[in-house]
This record gives sequence, structure tokens and C-alpha cells, in this order.
Amino acid sequence: IQCVGILTSGGDAPGMNAAIRAITRAAVYKGLKVKGIYRGYKGLVTGEIKEFKSEDVSNIIQMGGTILKTARCKEFKTEEGRKQAYENIQKEGIDALIVIGGDGSLSGARIFAQEYNLPCIGLPGTIDNDLFGTDITIGYDTALNTILDAVDKIRDTASSHERLFFVEVMGRDAGFLALNGAIAAGAEAAIIPEFSTKDDQLEALISRGFRKSKTSSIVLVAESELTGGAMHLAERVKNEYPQYDVRVTILGHLQRGGSPSANDRILASRLGVAAIDALMEGYHNVMIGIENDEVVYVPFRKAIKNDKPIKEELVQVLAELSI
Ligand code: F6P
Repeated sequence: IQCVGILTSGGDAPGMNAAIRAITRAAVYKGLKVKGIYRGYKGLVTGEIKEFKSEDVSNIIQMGGTILKTARCKEFKTEEGRKQAYENIQKEGIDALIVIGGDGSLSGARIFAQEYNLPCIGLPGTIDNDLFGTDITIGYDTALNTILDAVDKIRDTASSHERLFFVEVMGRDAGFLALNGAIAAGAEAAIIPEFSTKDDQLEALISRGFRKSKTSSIVLVAESELTGGAMHLAERVKNEYPQYDVRVTILGHLQRGGSPSANDRILASRLGVAAIDALMEGYHNVMIGIENDEVVYVPFRKAIKNDKPIKEELVQVLAELSI
């Protein structure tokens, strides 16, 4: 391997810049060339590619977002688009690709690697924490802290008015942000997609009785068709239990921004260095993850299979502490 291409793809996540910096510096340290590809797979298709030196990644470790920009690219989903992308890879002399992104982005890398026999490495970059085989993903910790700050503020007004708040958080179809956000914020409950088929979580909450010993209640709701979302749940409560004074806050994209936490910067730095090591050791088509504080290599097909389990223990912690 002589020249590594880097791209960020899908939803941005705090810590992506720290990962770009780590990959670039580790590659230069080991005598490799680095090329930054702009706007995710789109830049591969259109040839928006620039050589990166060590100084190109100075002063970015503290920045949210991604200096490489990101996109969700339709063209790359077609064979024709990927053919064009490969032509640009050849033209630029790139002989390995590192993709920082979530499951959609790693699925793209997997197909591309298979079609063109190009060594590809993935880094888990998503606030959703929904990639299998890694305990955490880049951006998740920062998003969790952002949720925490927001819920702490909502709590002030919720308790002044003695209201019931449904706070909707991101996560696509995963409940990690909602569940751990609820534990960290001391919320009453989390309504998460993982349990949507098991029981009516709202009914369970209501029958247990909100605000037993409290003057206000905050319930975190994971966005997802499977939970119905915060608006829908609030409407249900308003109709069926008019005694509650209900409000909704949808946190939205503010969860994706902000300066990455120390944990995200360290994670991104470790994974970036490990990605270059993996390439030099001949690994490809793997995502680099962290399990029990050790770097692990997870085959793409496993990482993206979309069934990272929620720990029952955490559900119990929240249940016991919200009485
Ligand atoms: O995957 C990250 C994420 O923020 C999800 O939590 C959310 O469902 C989605 O991206 C939103 O995507 P967009 O920014 O394209 O609206």
C-alpha cells in the first residue's frame, strides 16, 4: 500500500475530524501518501480529491462536523457510479480506502471492495452507536453529552410547571442514545425501538404511574417508526389521560454538532492509527472497533447486520432508579 484515500459519509458525527487527523498523521508517519476525498462517495464519483499532508489536518481535532464534508450519495448505489468512482481511484493512484461512517456507508464500502478488489477499511462514525462489534462509535459520547445538557435544562422548566415532557432523541432505529441518555439525565423512562414488539411501553409507564414521588416527569423517546416518536406518544397521553400537562421537545440535529468530547477524540485517534496498522498488516474489508478497551477487526458483513443488542442490565438500571 502506498496511497490511502479517506472519506466521511452519511450523517456527520463529532470526532470525524479527529479520525481524519489520526489517519492522515499515522499514514504519513508510516511513509504513506494520503488523499482526502470530499463529500463522501460523491467526491469519489466526481473526482473531488486532494492530497493531504500532515499540516492539512492541524487544528481540527476540536472541531465538530467533518472538514471533508459528507453526503448520502445515490450515484454510488449504481454500478455505473461505482465504475466511475473506481476510475478516479486509479487515476489518483489510491490503493486503499478508509471510510468513516455508519452502516449505510460501510455497506457501500463492502460492495465496492468486493466489486473492485480494493482494500477497504471502515471506521464506525455515527452518533447512533448502532454498529455491531464495537462497544462505541465515534460521535456517540458527544451526542449523549449534548442530550444530557438539553435534558438538564428541560428539567428546570418541567419541574417548575410540574409537566410531563417527551423528549425525542436521534438514533434511527436504535435506542442507545435514548436509554443511556435517560440513565445519565435521571429521566423517568426511555421508549426505545428494541422493545416495540415486546410490549406497549407507554401503557406500561402509565399503568405504573408517572410522578409517583416526583413533581415532573421526563421520558426520552427514540425517534423511529417503531416507537411512534414523541409527538405521537404525547397525543396519545393527551387524549387518554387529560390530567397530565404534556409537552414535547424534539432535539433534532443539534445532537450531531459540537466539539467532540475527550472520549470521542481518544476513540477516533485510536481507531485512525489502528486503521493504518490494519492496512499495513494486510487486513481489508473490516471495520475497526473497540471491545473491552481493545482494538478489534470486525468483518463488514457482521458490523452492518443491524442487530447490536441493547443491554438488559441498562434497562433494569433505569427501571430501578426511576421509582
Ligand atoms: O445516522 C445519524 C442520524 O443522525 C440519525 O440518528 C438520524 O435518523 C439521521 O441521521 C438523520 O439524517 P439526516 O441528517 O439526513 O436528516
